[in-house]
Amino acid sequence: MPNPRVTVSTLAALKARGEPIACLTCYDASFTLLLERAGVEVLLVGDSLGMVLQGQETTVPVTLDQMVYHCACVARRRGRALIVGDLPFLTYATPERALAAAARLMQEGGAHMVKLEGGAAMVPTVAALTAQAVPVCGHLGLLPQSVHKLGGYRTQGRDPAGAQAIRDDALALQAAGAGLLVLECVPAALAAEIASSLTIPVIGIGAGSGCDGQVLVLHDMLGLNPDRPPGFSKDFLRGRDDGVPGAIAAYVQAVKARCFPGPEQTPA
Ligand code: KIV
Repeated sequence: MPNPRVTVSTLAALKARGEPIACLTCYDASFTLLLERAGVEVLLVGDSLGMVLQGQETTVPVTLDQMVYHCACVARRRGRALIVGDLPFLTYATPERALAAAARLMQEGGAHMVKLEGGAAMVPTVAALTAQAVPVCGHLGLLPQSVHKLGGYRTQGRDPAGAQAIRDDALALQAAGAGLLVLECVPAALAAEIASSLTIPVIGIGAGSGCDGQVLVLHDMLGLNPDRPPGFSKDFLRGRDDGVPGAIAAYVQAVKARCFPGPEQTPA
């Protein structure tokens, strides 16, 4: 019996039975095949492609056309994984714009879910999308599209007010209909608390091992970002003799066994 395709309900079932969800970013057909074979459940076509593929300094310049192109490259080799596509900077500034952008990511790009950054201010947009049958993944903590406002890439939610804002935003996104949440660069204890208080799965990146799943930028976990490796990532290719497929399989196993992230990749 072939493995059934991963849906939002599959992810909810994985959370319910305490099995961590393995997610990686993915931007092309060749890697899609490798990630599928390793059992990655969620392929995130992230706007991080602006940095790792295009050499941009931030994700801000990434366009909707580019996201549609990369989603379509991934969708052509998709087997059973769920494809989440990032809505780029300012393409969801109003619910109307978000609906138009999501239509392109899903109809032309083949994405199954769209991801957007932000909390309470995004509630009307998340509600409008989910009312039109667009599955939504929220993104809280460090918001890369807000880097010019934040002034850099730093762990968020370290102070009590910041932590409370992230808790409140997480609940608000869930109530608005989000089916998945990414928490980026928040203290591990806060991320674990949010994951256990929400019914929807929470995927962490730089947020400790207490989330319902993990995501990394593919190029980081293959050591292809040697000048700027984020401290919360790990080079799974280093020291292996079974190449990229082995590194990806090792990541999936480490996530499933809750061995990654370890203490050395976990923010206080
Ligand atoms: O764009 C991306 O790759 C992301 C991850 C860092 C979560 O949003």
